Amino acid sequence: MSEAPAQPLSGGVWRKPCVNIGILGLGVVGSGTLQLLQNNQAEIEHRIGLPIRVKRIAVRDVNKPRAVDVDRALLTTDASEILDDPDIDIVCELIGGIDPAKGFVMRAMRAGKQVVTANKEMLAKEGEGLMREASERGLDFQFEGSVGGGIPIVQPMKNALSGNQIREVLGIINGTTNYILTKMTHEHADFDEVLREAQEKGYAEQDPTSDVGGFDAQYKIAILSSIAFSSPIRINDVYVEGITRIQKRDIAAAGELGYVIKLVGVSKRIGADQLQVRVHPALLKHSHPLASTNGVYNAVLVKGDSVGDVMFYGRGAGAGPTGSAVVGDIIDTCRNLRLGATGRVPSASMVKRTIQPIEEVLTRHYLRMHVLDRPRVLASIAGVLGDHNISIESVVQKETHSDQAEIVWITHNCPGRSISAALAAVRSLQGVVSIENWIRVEE
Ligand code: HSE
Repeated sequence: MSEAPAQPLSGGVWRKPCVNIGILGLGVVGSGTLQLLQNNQAEIEHRIGLPIRVKRIAVRDVNKPRAVDVDRALLTTDASEILDDPDIDIVCELIGGIDPAKGFVMRAMRAGKQVVTANKEMLAKEGEGLMREASERGLDFQFEGSVGGGIPIVQPMKNALSGNQIREVLGIINGTTNYILTKMTHEHADFDEVLREAQEKGYAEQDPTSDVGGFDAQYKIAILSSIAFSSPIRINDVYVEGITRIQKRDIAAAGELGYVIKLVGVSKRIGADQLQVRVHPALLKHSHPLASTNGVYNAVLVKGDSVGDVMFYGRGAGAGPTGSAVVGDIIDTCRNLRLGATGRVPSASMVKRTIQPIEEVLTRHYLRMHVLDRPRVLASIAGVLGDHNISIESVVQKETHSDQAEIVWITHNCPGRSISAALAAVRSLQGVVSIENWIRVEE
């Protein structure tokens, strides 16, 4: 690749000497973004056909040591120096959270600036309004880094796959929980033990609630579903259940039956107008395309009516991967600026669809219970399941100690509502000691 300065490509409408970028936030993602812009500047400028320049970076503390070499003269603690500078063309919002990020993004758009962000919470909670604002103003609003870190998933769904009717999006979209479940699986360890170790090593946050509670994945599946189904999905539309109740015995019992347990984000079209959008632990067959996605890796499986199954796999977080997604968006925006073609946001084609209540969602289920090892106990439980119209696919009983046994059932497809009602009845049966767990099984 030649190191010669980029020459503007012919045919565009861009008249300034370069595209100026303002970055809000220089944490992990901001540093990864700046590093990549520095490392590959010549290649990036040739790909765009225009020079680009990081003009200003707003941070909370200009004296804080940074993971990237940065000219101190670029740093400011005043975001207005970016938002009010008419010479800045693209604002990269890499602060995260809602406040002040959303206000800054709105100000940037009202000042006519293109916006690139990696902020999943802002997208999931405020994306609809922000996209409308961008669309009405003819601005780009890009957010590849908000889901799946470095995995290209937002752009492929907006572009390459957009001719398909998407049937389903199924993803492992949280690296922390995937790391914890993988460790629990490989080391036969308890959740608390693995979480503590992950926190010591810096893989899990000191407050892990957003990850282990499923909320991070909730934001991400809301964003993916909105694009996949051209429908505004609010986070309250997404059923969420985390991984804190998964025991090492569940992982072992699932393994004995040929399954792994993963935290999945699922979004499916049911009939013409209904969607189900959910995050929860699920059993996946060892042969499932997502089953071997281990450690901090993320993967998303998209099913389209024409393309069939497409899978995206890679690092779901971190400076380099997320920086890669942000820089890809910056490049796309620069190309649009050069051609005068900004404003390609998906909001124009949004259709509201109803969300299927979680109790009505049909899946197979794994049920694990402890019982007294006496005559008729298994038969009485099977009777209750039958009474609730739940058909059994398989059942395994194991002696645990002296007079008790563990029974693991896999049901055929049935609604969650039937399982809740049946388990309430099973709990009061003679000989049932405890219902240990109930987990959905994903196809
Ligand atoms: N906390 C997220 C995860 C990374 O564990 O996947 C950022 O989205």
